[in-house]
Amino acid sequence: MATRKLLLLPGDGIGPEAMAEVSKLIAVMNAEFDAGFETESGLVGGAAYDAHGQAISDADMERALAADAVLFGAVGGPKWDGVPYEVRPEAGLLRLRKELELFANLRPAICYPALAASSSLKKELVEGLDILIVRELTGGVYFGEPKEIVDLGNGQKRAVDTQVYDTFEIERIAGVAFELARTRRNKVCSMEKHNVMKSGVLWKEVVAATHQAKYADVELTHMLADAGGMQLVRQPKQFDVIVTDNLFGDMLSDVAAMLTGSLGMLPSASLGAPDPATGKRRALYEPVHGSAPDIAGQGIANPIAMIASFAMCLRYSFNMIEEADRLEGAIAAVLEDGLRTRDILSEGGREVSTSAMGSAIVEKFRALAA
Ligand code: NAD
Ligand code: IPM
Ligand code: MN
Repeated sequence: MATRKLLLLPGDGIGPEAMAEVSKLIAVMNAEFDAGFETESGLVGGAAYDAHGQAISDADMERALAADAVLFGAVGGPKWDGVPYEVRPEAGLLRLRKELELFANLRPAICYPALAASSSLKKELVEGLDILIVRELTGGVYFGEPKEIVDLGNGQKRAVDTQVYDTFEIERIAGVAFELARTRRNKVCSMEKHNVMKSGVLWKEVVAATHQAKYADVELTHMLADAGGMQLVRQPKQFDVIVTDNLFGDMLSDVAAMLTGSLGMLPSASLGAPDPATGKRRALYEPVHGSAPDIAGQGIANPIAMIASFAMCLRYSFNMIEEADRLEGAIAAVLEDGLRTRDILSEGGREVSTSAMGSAIVEKFRALAA
């Protein structure tokens, strides 16, 4: 039996509630399907800060580096608003992304048929939607230096964030987007703001050159990121793969989430480069949503983004394609059955708790295997 080492980092707010539903699935896969998952749990975010004053400990970083894959819940919340910037909960996630070199963040926005009516957009605009946002995750304004607040001494302060991109960073994320497009509808739209940003000029140039050199068979278009946001809500089905920088990707994926019905539906995979010798890549799987402090602890959070992130883990880290398909099928099926957490509740749906939704998906997963 294969041993598959997973590090679970539930984090804060609804993170642990959502992770508990994935743990149920892991237990069933081990007991009944011989999946061989070996799990460890660690602390991240506010939970880690409360325990040892850091957003993630060096020991948990070591375990993340040693794991085959990391499953991440969510971090943050008002409780930690006052903590120093360097150790705020979000710093734990950023450290994981940077030190694991997870430069490629795949954020699929799929509108399940049963949820077309739950979107804030008209049903016909989102029905059948299947887009993939490929977000650059280890560069740009998130990590550029200097990043500081300077006291100007005249009663004024100056805040500085720096957007930096090197050619290789754009090349490798563009490569990921083109490769994935070839497995889908063969279209990539690159989004930047070359009209006001130097990094946008280089982004567009390098994406075009990468396309020309290696991926000319893929259809490539360019769009200014602000217009891209508009087009995502005007006519989202025009897109297949969208490739964009760290900050635009963050914002555009929250927009895309609402096309699918809820932020509670969007999973993501954060991937590193494949090791040339083994082909294995570092990976962390995280829902797109945050810790949702407004609903934490009430048992009403939607666990689907977390469970679908685990499906991405099965697919990308363990090549368990059949199981990944089955898990995604189980999600679609419980939605077809009318089960709804509150965020996706609409007429005709039956409201269930986080835990009941998770259990129903596990049961469907089992049933689909039979
Ligand atoms: P959020 O994603 O936590 O919540 C936004 C809204 O969506 C809230 O109304 C929330 O109730 C709802 N929502 C989110 N996930 C849901 C789910 N699974 N089921 C049902 N409803 C859901 O974003 P926010 O409120 O802007 O941020 C809260 C905290 O989370 C902040 O500290 C932020 O930094 C952090 N955050 C963390 C991550 C992460 O850990 N990956 C991502 C985004 C935000
Ligand atoms: C996300 C989140 C993170 C980001 C935060 C929590 C650091 O919003 O993953 O979308 O901005 O990347
Ligand atoms: Mn975000």
